[in-house]
Amino acid sequence: MENKDIGHKIKKLRKEIEYHNYRYYVLDDPKISDHEYDLMLRELERLEKENPEFFDFNSPTQRVGAKPSEKFESVKHKVPMLSLQNAMNFGELEKWDKRVRKGLGKNNVKYCCELKFDGASISLLYHNSELIRGVTRGDGTMGEDITNNIRVIKSIPLKLLGNNVSKGNIIIRGEVIMPIKSFEELNKKAEKNNGKIFANPRNAAAGSLRQLNPKITAERDLEFFAYSEFDEMVVGGWGGLEQHKDLEKLKWLGFKVSSHHELCNNIDDVKEFCEGAEEKKDKLPFQVDGVVVKVNNINDQKKLGFVARSPRWAIAFKFTAEEQETVLEDIEVQVGRKGTLTPVAHLKPVRIAGSTVSRATLHNKEEIKRKDIRIGDHVLVRKAGEVIPEVFKSLKEKRTGKEKKFVMPLKCPVCGSKVINVGAIHESPMIKCPNKNCYAQHREAIIHFVSRTAFDIEHIGPALVDQLLENKLIEDSADLFTLKQGDLGNLERMAEKSAQNVVESLESKKEVTLARFIYALGITHVGEQTAYDLADHFGSLKKLEKASFDELNDIFGLGDIVAKSVHDYFKDPKNLRFLEKLKKAGVKIKVETQGLASLRGKSFVITGSLEKFSREVAEEGIRKRGGKASSSVSPTTDYLVAGENPGSKYDKAKKLGVKIISENELIKLLG
Ligand code: IVH
Repeated sequence: MENKDIGHKIKKLRKEIEYHNYRYYVLDDPKISDHEYDLMLRELERLEKENPEFFDFNSPTQRVGAKPSEKFESVKHKVPMLSLQNAMNFGELEKWDKRVRKGLGKNNVKYCCELKFDGASISLLYHNSELIRGVTRGDGTMGEDITNNIRVIKSIPLKLLGNNVSKGNIIIRGEVIMPIKSFEELNKKAEKNNGKIFANPRNAAAGSLRQLNPKITAERDLEFFAYSEFDEMVVGGWGGLEQHKDLEKLKWLGFKVSSHHELCNNIDDVKEFCEGAEEKKDKLPFQVDGVVVKVNNINDQKKLGFVARSPRWAIAFKFTAEEQETVLEDIEVQVGRKGTLTPVAHLKPVRIAGSTVSRATLHNKEEIKRKDIRIGDHVLVRKAGEVIPEVFKSLKEKRTGKEKKFVMPLKCPVCGSKVINVGAIHESPMIKCPNKNCYAQHREAIIHFVSRTAFDIEHIGPALVDQLLENKLIEDSADLFTLKQGDLGNLERMAEKSAQNVVESLESKKEVTLARFIYALGITHVGEQTAYDLADHFGSLKKLEKASFDELNDIFGLGDIVAKSVHDYFKDPKNLRFLEKLKKAGVKIKVETQGLASLRGKSFVITGSLEKFSREVAEEGIRKRGGKASSSVSPTTDYLVAGENPGSKYDKAKKLGVKIISENELIKLLG
C-alpha cells in the first residue's frame, strides 16, 4: 500500500473506532460486538506500530499510554470554576426565584433544571476539536492538571464528534462519577487486599482521578457527564445563548448528558421537576444529591453575575438528607479555636448516605433542650451534602428510663476556666471559654493554621500538634517554622523519615499567597472567601493592617461585624507580635500583584533563536510573572514561542493545537 493510502486507512479506522466508542460508552447503544471492536482496535495498533510517522496522541490506541507522573502541575482555569448556593427547601428556592426576577426586572424567567451529580468536577480544554487538557476544580481558580488520567475515561472524547466541528478553544465542564455498583465492588476488592476504602462514590471518583499512575485510573470504572461549555468562537466569547441548548450542543459534540433535564417555564415547574427527581434518584445507577436550577438565558446569567464565588443565576436544590437511626452513647464537649464549647454526640457507628458516621454535632445546649436529646437515646441522624452529620430527633417512644439528661459544663473541660454565656452579649445560645490561653484554643488555632486550605502543611495532624504542645516544643504556629529534625526525633512514634517529612513540608510552605495567610490567622468571621476578598482588595498585608474600620466596612459584602473583627485583630498587640514572629521565622507572602503574576498557570516552550533577548532571559521573564518555561511541547503547553529557524517542536505544537506566538507577541505578554 502507498504511504498516502496507509495514512488514509489509519485515519478512517480511528474515526470508526471513535464512533463505536461513542455508541458504547456515551449512548449505551453499541452497533457492533465487543469482538469486532477489538479486531478493529488491534488492526489500528498494528498499522500505527508499522507506520510511526502517523502517530497521533489523540488516537484511540493512546488512551492509557502515559507514564506515571511525579506530581500534578497547577493550572489556572481560563474561566473560574464556581460553587453553588444551596436551597434546602422549596421556601428557599422560591426566595431565590424572587431575587432572580427582581434582579432581571422580569416576571417570567425560564429555568433549566439538571441533576446535581455527586462526583468530582473537572474542566476539559479542546482546541480545534482535540482534547488538550483536563484539570480538577481545585480552589476554583487553580486546579491540577490531570490530563493523562481523564484520557482513560472512555466517555470523554479525545476528539470531538464530527469533523472539526469546533474550531479554536472550547472548555467543557462536567462531573466525573463512579457508578454505585462499581464503587461497592472497588471497596470489596480493597477490603480483601487491605487497600484504601473509600467513604462514598464521590471520594472514590475524586481519588481515582488523583492517581499519579494513569494505569490505576484506567482500572476504575469512571464516567463523565457534561453540563456546560464555554466556546471562544461564539460572539462575545466563551458562551452560548441558552443553557438548555448548550446541553444539546454537548450531546452533539459527543458527550454524555443526563437525559434528566428540563426547560421549566416558572418556579412551579421547577418544583415539580425537583419532586420527580427526588422520587427517581434512588433508581439511578449513580449518586445525585440534588437538582441544579439555572437561569436558562445566558445573557440573563451575565446580567445577574456573581456573589463571592457563586453565581446569582444558579442554585442547588438539595434533596432531603438521608437519615438513619442509631444510639447516642455519650456526649463530649469540644472546645473550638475561638473557645466555643460544642456538644458532640458519640454514636454507635451507622452508615448514612454511603459513609460511616460515629460523631455528630448537637450544635448547642438550646438545641439539645429543644429536641430533648438524652444520653442513651435512640436518635435519628442525618447528613445533608457537605454539612457535618447532625442528630435531629430523639425517639422518645424507645426510652427505657435509663437515659440521662445532659447539662453543659460550667467550666471549660480543657482548662477549667468558668465559661461565659455569649448569649448575654449577642443573640446566641453559645457558651465560650474566655481563657485566651486555654490549651484547646491554642491547639485548634494551630490545627487550623496548618490545614489544607490555610498553610497546607502535610504531615502535621492533631496528634502531632498535641505532642508538640505537650513537650513545649512550640507555643504557637510561628514556632513550627523553627523546628529542626532533631527536635522531633525524640517524640514518641516519630521515625526519622517522618521528622524529615515534617521539617521539609514546613520549609516548602513558608511562602504562601496573601489569601491563605489571612485565612490561616483564624480571625473571627474570616472564612476562606472573606480572606480571598481581603487579599484581592488590599493586595498586601501592610495595607490590610493599616486599613481603617470604614475602609473595611466599605468592601462590598463584608458587613460591619466582619469589618470590626478584622479591624480589632490588627489592633491587638498580641496579634501584631505573632505576625512579627512569623516574619522572623521566615514566612513570606507571595507577591501576586496582577502585573507580576500575569502569566500564572501558563506554560511556554521556546524554539529557534530569539532576536531581542537570550532564551534564558526570556524564560526568566516568564517565570517571574508566574509562568512556566519548559523545554518540550506537551498537550499542556499553552504557548510555543517560535524564533528564527524553529525546530521540530514547532511541528509538534502545531499538531497538538498549541498556540504559536512570535517573539514580539511574547514581549507583549511579558508587558
Ligand atoms: S453547574 C456555577 N451543573 O456542583 C456553576 N454543577 O456546588 C456550577 N455539579 O462543583 C456548575 N452537577 O461540580 C453544575 N448539573 C450540574 C452539576 C453541577 C453537579 C457540581 C459541580 C460544582 C458543584 C457546585
